[in-house]
Amino acid sequence: MLDQGAPSHDRTATAPASPGLAARLMRRKPVERLVAEGSHGEGGALRRSLGLWQLTMISIGATLGTGIFVVLGNAVPKAGPAVTLSFVFAGLTALFSALSYAELAGTIPVSGSSYSYAYATMGELIAWVCGWCLLLEYGVSVAAVAVGWGKYLNELLDGTIGVTIPTALSAPPGDGGIFNLPALIVVILAMVFLLGGAKESARANTIMVCVKIAALILFCAIGFMGFKSGNYAHFMPLGMAGVSGAAGTLFFSYIGFDAASTAGEEAKDAQRDLPRAIMLSLVIVTALYVLVAAVAVGAKPWRQFNDSEATLAQIMKDVTGQGFWGTLLAACAVIAIASVVLTVVYGQTRILFAMSRDGLVPKVFARVHPKTGAPRANTVIVSLFCGVLAAAIPLGQLADATSIGTLFAFALVNVAVVVLRRTRPDMNRTFRVPLSPLLPALGFGFCVWMMGSLPGITWIVFGVWMAVGLVFYFVYGYRRSRLATGENLVMTAEK
Ligand code: ALA
Repeated sequence: MLDQGAPSHDRTATAPASPGLAARLMRRKPVERLVAEGSHGEGGALRRSLGLWQLTMISIGATLGTGIFVVLGNAVPKAGPAVTLSFVFAGLTALFSALSYAELAGTIPVSGSSYSYAYATMGELIAWVCGWCLLLEYGVSVAAVAVGWGKYLNELLDGTIGVTIPTALSAPPGDGGIFNLPALIVVILAMVFLLGGAKESARANTIMVCVKIAALILFCAIGFMGFKSGNYAHFMPLGMAGVSGAAGTLFFSYIGFDAASTAGEEAKDAQRDLPRAIMLSLVIVTALYVLVAAVAVGAKPWRQFNDSEATLAQIMKDVTGQGFWGTLLAACAVIAIASVVLTVVYGQTRILFAMSRDGLVPKVFARVHPKTGAPRANTVIVSLFCGVLAAAIPLGQLADATSIGTLFAFALVNVAVVVLRRTRPDMNRTFRVPLSPLLPALGFGFCVWMMGSLPGITWIVFGVWMAVGLVFYFVYGYRRSRLATGENLVMTAEK
């Protein structure tokens, strides 16, 4: 293993002698250097403006959305009323990994999330693999989320002005349309907020998160009025296999709890607040999911759920007999899902920022605007990529692959926490995973179990995705990596 040492001040000091291929692939970035470079970009620095409240809202913003408003409709037919258990299992998988995220976010408070943790513990190749998986978790999932937004937008338009956007303009080619305009619009809206800076985006996100939590509580209150215990008569009609299959599908609804860890360089007190924000958001989200799912299957027989309708809005309509409540819920869902798009695009830009600073992707992603302190070019490129992906490409299997990519990244985080405990026991940890290595091992096991519950075709798509990522790494990042060139960013930025 190459020892890169502490941050150094000239090229020759960090340039490796002539290491072999294996040593190069496993070169690690010292934690001190990761932290020292924290917030530095090309020609400027990100601004530290976010407190615990905003960080928690970023994680809830990125998590609570399509999963509960749309994907629930796909999951109930798989598990029946036991879908509540599926939420618990998916939540447990997220919880064990969240503990590991919390420890690492408090120890390495930078913006690259699991990519940076892997770089510090398992070396550059694994870090790249992790970053490439995060592109699925963030970049591709945002496109899938934007598509879900269109469903609720149509429901809202139908309920208010009695028109819906025609399929030609609300679906990509291959799915019966020409272009998914709503999906593009929501991503562009997110881009506009993000260009204003992290603080402004966080403020908008906080309002949207409050709206979505209020909407889900309202749903529970109204749905409870239609609750029939008979709907629970056969709790687990499709057995444990159904429960675990639905948990795999529903894992999508937990993606995003780690989003606060992409804000490490914009947090006022990252070491103290990041672990708290991650844990707090996961607890709030899990409680809401289980409650909403329990009310939904109590108010509507499980066989009547399907994926073609705006599930929660329909239940509100059915229970009250009034279209108004369904329309109100659709309006809240439109806001709710927009905040997922906002925070997930935010997360993607910050991960690419960190990767770019390390030289693994082009430098343009680390350029910071002097006035707003936001990575502007990065934000525009990511938004256009996600917007076009959502609008023009039938995502199909690629969207399913987001869960497998996320689980893979989570599995690596569980390994990273144990590795860092062994290699750097001396570091100051503001949060420690209890019972380590047992809980990280359980986190790892749950991730692998859940990956195993996803269909074979998803694995094939994932394999192809990873192969493309590896080609990119060997063609581009392998040589340009700052650890390879010996270039020191802190020096560059301060010149
Ligand atoms: N967890 C996010 C959602 O459900 C991706 O929309």
